Amino acid sequence: MNRKYRKTVVAGNWKMNKTVSETRAFAEELKNSLPRSKRCSIILCVPFVNITSAIKVLKDSRIAVAAQNVHWESHGAYTGEVSAAMLADLGVKYVLIGHSERRQYFNETDTFVNKKIRAALQAGLRPILCVGETLEQRELDVTSELIAYQIKSALSGISAEEMRHIIIAYEPVWAIGTGKTATPEQAGEVCGTIRAVLRKLYGARVARATTIQYGGSMNPKNASTLLAQPDVDGGLIGSASLELSDFLQIIYAANEE
Ligand code: PGA
Repeated sequence: MNRKYRKTVVAGNWKMNKTVSETRAFAEELKNSLPRSKRCSIILCVPFVNITSAIKVLKDSRIAVAAQNVHWESHGAYTGEVSAAMLADLGVKYVLIGHSERRQYFNETDTFVNKKIRAALQAGLRPILCVGETLEQRELDVTSELIAYQIKSALSGISAEEMRHIIIAYEPVWAIGTGKTATPEQAGEVCGTIRAVLRKLYGARVARATTIQYGGSMNPKNASTLLAQPDVDGGLIGSASLELSDFLQIIYAANEE
């Protein structure tokens, strides 16, 4: 990470885990156990139904609440969906967009990812844009091209000014929930590729100021070395964010690095 130019951000992605009562208990303990110094921002990405409770418990804390998905239209006949305006109205600050599980299980394409980013920004939400290659793509040696394509497509029509509100998360699909972490060098290299793409699209200032997280089996043991990479500005943490002590250890590591 490079705190001189950009924020360090640690986000927990709970996916489809935890009930409302579990959320309240976790959030309460988390906010009372944070490091004193505020060298990293903290976000909890909770299921839709837990958002109100999480926001209530965390309202006087420095932990922001995020949604894990959003629809691209502002309203209408889309049974089962939730709009960006609805989330913003609840006090949600961030939203995950393009997570590989959404791409894989819910047919989320790059076109929809782009529409969702626009919708989120329009409503005042900050997107956390997730990109990453599959094992097959890595083995074919097309990771850089693929990541560049995902970034360019997701950010099509997004201005340099809007980029100030966007976080990018590099999550190799083969490392998510598998216990296989990218090596610090692999993570650093792809985060560097992402920054180079941003530089081409928006210039050096925007590229330097954008927070790029790594996600994929980040845990208390490997967090420090991953975060020591100059282009890795935080983590998007799945499994290890479900255990309070694991999540806290990662937050402390990010605070210290
Ligand atoms: P993981 O998930 O930490 O369990 O690999 C990361 C994510 O999918 O955001």
